[in-house]
Amino acid sequence: MSDSERIRFTSPTKNEILRHEGHIVLFAQSDGQLFPSAHPIDQACNGSVSRAASSEAFTKLKPGQSLSLEFPSGLASKKLVIMKLDRTAQRFEAQRAGASIAKQASNTHSLILCQGCRRLEDIVFGAKLRDYRFDRHKNDKKNETTEMTFCVRDPEAAKKKCQPHLDIAAGIIFGRDLVNEPANILNTDSFVSRLEDLRDDGIEVKILNEDELKNIGMRALLAVGQGSTNPSYVAIMEWKGAASAPLVLAGKGVVFDTGGISLKPATKMELMTMDMAGAATVAGVMKAIARRGAKAHVIGIVGLVENMPGGQAQRPGDVIRSLKGDTIEVINTDAEGRLVLADLLWYAQSQYEPLGIIDLATLTGAIIVSLGSEFAGLFSNHNKFCAEFLAAAHGVGEKAWRMPLDPSFDKSLKSRIADLKNVGGREAGASVASHFLQRFVKPTMPWIHLDIAGVALSQRGTELSPSGATGWGIQTINQLILNHYEER
Ligand code: BES
Ligand code: ZN
Ligand code: ZN
Repeated sequence: MSDSERIRFTSPTKNEILRHEGHIVLFAQSDGQLFPSAHPIDQACNGSVSRAASSEAFTKLKPGQSLSLEFPSGLASKKLVIMKLDRTAQRFEAQRAGASIAKQASNTHSLILCQGCRRLEDIVFGAKLRDYRFDRHKNDKKNETTEMTFCVRDPEAAKKKCQPHLDIAAGIIFGRDLVNEPANILNTDSFVSRLEDLRDDGIEVKILNEDELKNIGMRALLAVGQGSTNPSYVAIMEWKGAASAPLVLAGKGVVFDTGGISLKPATKMELMTMDMAGAATVAGVMKAIARRGAKAHVIGIVGLVENMPGGQAQRPGDVIRSLKGDTIEVINTDAEGRLVLADLLWYAQSQYEPLGIIDLATLTGAIIVSLGSEFAGLFSNHNKFCAEFLAAAHGVGEKAWRMPLDPSFDKSLKSRIADLKNVGGREAGASVASHFLQRFVKPTMPWIHLDIAGVALSQRGTELSPSGATGWGIQTINQLILNHYEER
């Protein structure tokens, strides 16, 4: 079933609702008062709904949580879900309600009686994001026949109102799919073809292959990929929705990170299939803004490489010359993301005149030690840019925390034989990595680095995503663009 069919908007008759055999979801306020659209159902089942909504159990629910009645008499429905949501509900409460509807909707057809609901778009957004499953490699698909029909007074108007939210959801789902896909399937070549599909959304996509990268001089990026039989690429995605200078988004796209010759231990190495989450986030933002037709100029640039050991792989101790010209002593081949980003950052600054640059990378394990899996680490050389980003993040409910940049961290990057080395000591790993990146950012360029190693995947799942890829950052950057980069 295609995506657009899973979520629908209709205006059913009373009889159609009474005869519906799947789930029926209706809404009640905190004080137990039913929404008017629930009254016919309440009548049909002899007041069971209003009794449930005035029960103690209902009082204890938080907004966005629900009670259910199984096989209610007087209805054909298997299950009646009574969702607590006030007319004055906040955005995140409405999203939570939508997510909870989707969670319960697995392999059934739910009718959701939304007539008179405010924040329909948030309910639908929450439902869409929580309905996500990555089951393309399972024979037993648990979610294939899920349908959610939102019942509203004016389906066309509802659809129109929800469309920008569904566009953002499409970007998030595109990003999640990339992150969840294993590295034998999403190698550098197939990553490129998935990005080429973005042309269908009106995005200009340019691919630079190894020969072109050699000519340009992106030797640091190429050094990371040289141990792999999968070729390295840089992909550039451009959305020109305005004539202004661009905002540049740069992403680390290591399709698999074995560590290279500085091989990682076996435990949990399989998770390194997500080491391209920075690139996936960039691609997800591009899709979202293109779908909703943002009046902004945004360029996404991602480095697609695989970090493997092998006869051609770079060695610890190698010295490479970056695109910028600075030479780098590679002490540890597992600190590869910064080599990829160094060349991307320099390329972006020399090719375009960006208004600002945001890079995203699953860069260090150290950021997970510092901040855990709820907060991304944010590093920036520009207070205003940083404040705007954090405000956008707060607005959409994604968490980030500013971490320090300080000249004192630079010292540990001094190399005996080159301009700098790619790792410092054991301390402050995420800040030292950011300092490495900052060496490739011009001092006057507004820049934000996001270390998303902790937030890109969720083991237990979050409110809006099942376990696996979260799509962290796509909403925030979309919101930042909406707030500050669009022509009005
Ligand atoms: N891709 C890893 C960082 C990572 C770790 C991402 C855990 C997600 C979960 C990165 O390339 C890496 O290996 N970093 C090293 C740097 C070290 C060698 C200085 C690390 O964090 O151990
Ligand atoms: Zn690594
Ligand atoms: Zn890595």
